[in-house]
Amino acid sequence: MQLRLGASSLAADHVSGLSSRRAAPLMCCFLGHASGSSSQWQAVKLRSRRPWPRAGAGSRIVARAGGYKVAILGAAGGIGQPLSLLIKMSPLVSALHLYDIVDVEGVTADLGHCNTPAKVVGFTGQEDLAGCLAGADVVVIPAGVPRKPGMTRDDLFSINAGIVKELVEAVADHAPGSLIHIISNPVNSTVPIAAELLKQKGVYDPRKLFGVTTLDVVRANTFVAEKKNLPLADVDVPVVGGHAGATILPLLSKARPKTSFTDEEVEELTARIQNAGTEVVEAKAGGGSATLSMAYAAARFIEASLRGLDGDGDVYECSYVPSQAAVPELPFFASRVKLGRDGVEEVVAAELRGLTHFEARALEALKPQLKASIDKGVAYAQQQPAVAMA
Ligand SMILES: NC(=O)c1ccc[n+]([C@@H]2O[C@H](COP(=O)([O-])OP(=O)(O)OC[C@H]3O[C@@H](n4cnc5c(N)ncnc54)[C@H](O)[C@@H]3O)[C@@H](O)[C@H]2O)c1
Repeated sequence: MQLRLGASSLAADHVSGLSSRRAAPLMCCFLGHASGSSSQWQAVKLRSRRPWPRAGAGSRIVARAGGYKVAILGAAGGIGQPLSLLIKMSPLVSALHLYDIVDVEGVTADLGHCNTPAKVVGFTGQEDLAGCLAGADVVVIPAGVPRKPGMTRDDLFSINAGIVKELVEAVADHAPGSLIHIISNPVNSTVPIAAELLKQKGVYDPRKLFGVTTLDVVRANTFVAEKKNLPLADVDVPVVGGHAGATILPLLSKARPKTSFTDEEVEELTARIQNAGTEVVEAKAGGGSATLSMAYAAARFIEASLRGLDGDGDVYECSYVPSQAAVPELPFFASRVKLGRDGVEEVVAAELRGLTHFEARALEALKPQLKASIDKGVAYAQQQPAVAMA
């Protein structure tokens, strides 16, 4: 049995690429044998036939094995637990710090028994945040309440804004140079909240703040591959805009490989990608929102970020980032970005050129909704000092 995880190999398309011995991107991967004793990370060189570089495609093997510290805040939750497991398996991670307000001790003990190198340490309670965050290279925040049927992501604002505030302020104090990955919804507002709070603390670096929208890309790739009967390994659909309903804009015209869609297919696929989170919320019938696919997507994004930090010169992912390069009137927007040693090296704004009529219309339509969510987050953060003093 062969189990592969880590770096680009977290993507299922790469698994199929390896198992079928077809050409696939250069990657590092984990080869864990069922016999157990000889598990090891190995670099596997495979040739890319993908025209677009992305998180899974690198021009050279990542040389550094281990060494990064990742902190997960909300690690005992539905996303936090499987995400912690996936990151425990990463060859790039030497320290995995888990923080939650409940249950973190059990998760830490459990994960600590996995014979992979990352050392797992658990932390709980606000007084433990400093120790959890000290020296972290990447801080991931999946803390917060998830949706139940009938709720929008914006309905989570009142609770999750406060949780994100508390945690981002701690990151500003104890890990000011780290990359911050925000998963907690509504991402369209929680990322602007984080930006404002980091500014207030004097440690804001827009290259290092990310809203995790990778799940939208993962879903788009899966649905397009299913619909057009394409091998998953070949499919790459950029998803731009934001992370809620109509603000999620898959650019099917930019999908790789170049694929033709009927108008009906475009409408159907776009609607499914936009509502995929709700599909899971309804299927779980009150049991929460996407956790396993989200953990998978977040792990892919963390690995991509670590590979960027590690100096791999060819790492691309879509993420909701502070940048007006793509749409000048929106200070936050999800775009394909190039990840490097200091976070975002480039926003690939060119991808918004040459859109179809459908995409251009959808882009115009999402702008007011996304702007309102951004403004709501900024206003919340700006009110905080006044609220604190009252
Ligand atoms: N970005 C995305 O694509 C995406 C996808 C799915 C879910 N989400 C969001 O992720 C968040 C978490 O979802 P989940 O299913 O894991 O929820 P969950 O309720 O299962 O887990 C949340 C965890 O956060 C912890 N927590 C709460 N307050 C905390 C605090 N102040 N400090 C530290 N930990 C705290 C809880 O104890 C819990 O363990 C939700 O806001 C959800 O909407 C985002």
